[in-house]
Amino acid sequence: MSRIFSGIQPSGELHIGNYLGAVRNWVALQSQFESIFCIVDYHAIIGSFTPEDLRRRTREMGISLLAAGLDPAHCTLFVQSRVPEHTELQWIFNTITPLGELERQVAYKEKAARQEQVMAGLLNYPVLQAADILLYLADTVPVGEDQVQHLELSRVIARNWNSRFAPADAPYFPEPKPKLTPTRRIVGLDGNAKMSKSLNNTIGLLESPDDMWAKLRPAVTDPARVKKTDPGNPDKCPVIFELHKAFSPPDVVAEVDANCRGAKWGCIDCKKVLFEHMNAELTPIRTRAQALAEQPALVDDALNAGAEKARVIARQTIAHVKEQMGLA
Ligand code: TYM
Repeated sequence: MSRIFSGIQPSGELHIGNYLGAVRNWVALQSQFESIFCIVDYHAIIGSFTPEDLRRRTREMGISLLAAGLDPAHCTLFVQSRVPEHTELQWIFNTITPLGELERQVAYKEKAARQEQVMAGLLNYPVLQAADILLYLADTVPVGEDQVQHLELSRVIARNWNSRFAPADAPYFPEPKPKLTPTRRIVGLDGNAKMSKSLNNTIGLLESPDDMWAKLRPAVTDPARVKKTDPGNPDKCPVIFELHKAFSPPDVVAEVDANCRGAKWGCIDCKKVLFEHMNAELTPIRTRAQALAEQPALVDDALNAGAEKARVIARQTIAHVKEQMGLA
């Protein structure tokens, strides 16, 4: 059976982009594959943060993921820094990763351009990501589109290590492939960029219905549609129609398409229907999150038990890697 691994930064509450691009898929896949999911707090200390805030955000992410449907009976869910083998493998991978491969990563170039002083951790971020995945010998990584280039690098690193330290006919590390969903890139409410916490254009998964409606109501639609009587083009509606495709049943999506093109519905009518279908999926998640937030010890126990399970595999991998490299 394939082993799946994926990670998410502890940004606190999940947003709809994380959920549709990755987490909803994790929930669906957890009972089909051996699945390991990680809250990557070592990745999150690259930017500015306070220790109290990081601790809070990590637990909140645990709550969001459990509420969204990850079930510790079906998957391993844990916090990265509780399994020190991640950084141990990263150091080893640093020694076989060409600098040029790191410097051409788009995410690195974009973030580095916005900073006065670039820290080495920002450059080495994708090496830690490769270590996360390969520590568990995972071959499938369910992620959104923005992670695809990092996964290409994970394959380079796996190949480099195998070619130096594994027999030619028995590669040790698999070359992990991304598993994308139809909602691999959710656009933010401004209709321009990817939905992302740092761009302040998100809808939080656990936001109240009132807050969610306050964001949906003014969200951009087909710019050519000025009056309700103007026929619209759903393919030019980057946020609302995409969310309909993600949350509304196919017959409703077809109705939305026809009523937009035929100017039978205004954009607010269309948004009201979307709001109803989003709430149908999100209300039970919000309710579960509320219950979990009242039992923090339960969440911590689940994450700690997950780390213990993860460490069993992590220790085996590190032992083999060190043996092959003359480090043990
Ligand atoms: P992160 O925390 O930014 O995002 C978590 C997951 O959500 C997806 N995602 C989106 N998908 C569609 N539309 C969007 N607007 C959107 N925004 C986020 C991301 O693609 C991701 O799948 N580097 C990773 C974390 C990581 C990781 C790993 C992932 C660390 N180690 C190992 C996979 C395997 C990150 O920052 O994701």
